[in-house]
Amino acid sequence: MELVFVLSFVSIGLAYDKASFYGASYISYPLQEAKGITDISFRFRTHLSDALLLLAAGKTDYCMIRLEGGKLKLHINLGAGESELSSAKGTYLNDTQYHHVSIIRREANLTMKVDDSVVKKKLPGRFFELNIHFGIFLGGQGDFSELFLGHMENFRGCMEDVYYNGVKIIEKARSRSGSVHVEGVTWNCALEFDADISSDISFIDEGAYLILPKINSRAGGRWQIEFKTITPNAVILYNPGGGRGSDFLAVEMLEGVVRVKMAKSQIVHTARVNDGQWHKMHLMFNPSVIEPMRYERTCVSHLRH
Ligand SMILES: *[C@@H]1O[C@H](CO)[C@@H](O)[C@H](O)[C@H]1NC(C)=O
Ligand SMILES: *[C@@H]1O[C@H](CO)[C@@H](O)[C@H](O)[C@H]1NC(C)=O
Repeated sequence: MELVFVLSFVSIGLAYDKASFYGASYISYPLQEAKGITDISFRFRTHLSDALLLLAAGKTDYCMIRLEGGKLKLHINLGAGESELSSAKGTYLNDTQYHHVSIIRREANLTMKVDDSVVKKKLPGRFFELNIHFGIFLGGQGDFSELFLGHMENFRGCMEDVYYNGVKIIEKARSRSGSVHVEGVTWNCALEFDADISSDISFIDEGAYLILPKINSRAGGRWQIEFKTITPNAVILYNPGGGRGSDFLAVEMLEGVVRVKMAKSQIVHTARVNDGQWHKMHLMFNPSVIEPMRYERTCVSHLRH
């Protein structure tokens, strides 16, 4: 009994300091300080090659860590202009594996360690305090716009064990201490970041959608979709075609029944499919569907349970 208790306690402890960001998420932690030292460390994983990881923002000073072209870049400004430090050339960090980042600054002496590789830099100027007024941002800058730092993509992936000068930012955010702001973050490393090509996708709210790279329905094609739902009315897929308005393909569900519409033609199925079971749909079409009269003959669409 005691052992079980200890193990579950430990696993809760580990889970406590993880966060998932989904591309529109961020954490902002209020902090004001002026220090000659900076210690930052965290682990992250992502498939994005360009994204904001961490920003410590002051009125003119800042320290920003982001991914640029798959490399980690540190931009720091102590008032004498920006200095930049980049992770090793030829090593891409956008590989969905965990990477460990540690930044240590003692006045002008800056060291950045990414996994096992270390880069160092001496900062210019005479004053070495990093003046932070607006706090620490993780994953995105929300509506913070006091400092213009250029366009930054929000982060999508997991971060864990984020320390900023001894403060455990994720733990503080999770316990909602002070006036921390949390937007769209979950306190785990979500399974979707391990998804492979055969993984199912859930559309978790009415606004959820997925855009695929351009598919030209004029060239014809063969699509197969497996889906399950209890929703009676929904768009399953839509292709706007060549942009002439009449050239679209829509697969939708009306009162639980699938309807395929293309240009001026449509097929409506009779079977109800919104029963919470998996259904497999095959959709085949070829260029002649652009001619509405031939559409019925050339488009074969059937549903199988
Ligand atoms: C990582 O990013 C680089 C630069 O954008 C890109 O060339 C590369 O294909 C990416 N790697 C992966 C695994 O996505
Ligand atoms: C910075 O590095 C220099 C040379 O490596 C050293 O002499 C100096 O003491 C260091 N400064 C601090 C504040 O650690």
